[in-house]
Amino acid sequence: MRGEPSRPRVLIPEERIEQRVAELAAEISRDHAGRTGAAAGAAGELLLVGVLRGSFIFLADLARRLTVPCAVDFIAVASYGGAARGDVRLVLDVRASLAGRHVLVVEDIVDSGHTLDYLLRTFRARNPASLRTCVLTRKPAAAEVEVPVDYLGFEIPDAWVVGYGLDLANRWRTLPYIGVVEPGDVPGGAVP
Ligand code: PRP
Repeated sequence: MRGEPSRPRVLIPEERIEQRVAELAAEISRDHAGRTGAAAGAAGELLLVGVLRGSFIFLADLARRLTVPCAVDFIAVASYGGAARGDVRLVLDVRASLAGRHVLVVEDIVDSGHTLDYLLRTFRARNPASLRTCVLTRKPAAAEVEVPVDYLGFEIPDAWVVGYGLDLANRWRTLPYIGVVEPGDVPGGAVP
């Protein structure tokens, strides 16, 4: 149809994402098999904390492939003036207490690094038994703050990526693959 934006170019196809998520889940399950499970109740579970909104699809697929006991919680943050300025604020906190828990933060992307840096500082202060990060994509060229990524899906170029949870102004989140948005894909031609 005339005026309809074209679909973003494929960067990482659906099958490759599925395969990598399975590998990450196997690695996480292996690493946590000895740490979780032995203790009873919440202390014996891996607590997955998904960062809304972008992580929801990745977290859903990853969680279903884990073979260790786990619980799921969510947190939401907002970046006023853009995350690149580092002005990150809490919008919605986790329900669970993190004290004494094995926590795995699940993110769709590390771009400047400010969001994950803020979350790790916030969570460390709550005395978890362990705190690790699982990130689907990272743009090394865009990093402004170094953040530890324990489990990484893909390193990607410094382009605007969408799909599998990632968005551009809330569009294209539900594409099954990760794609790159070019200025020609957006009405008006502006890619932030
Ligand atoms: C995106 C993404 C990360 C953050 C990464 O969230 O989900 O949380 O940006 O950027 P940074 O490394 O530069 O801090 P966004 O603010 O777009 O919200 P969304 O998840 O609701 O799309």
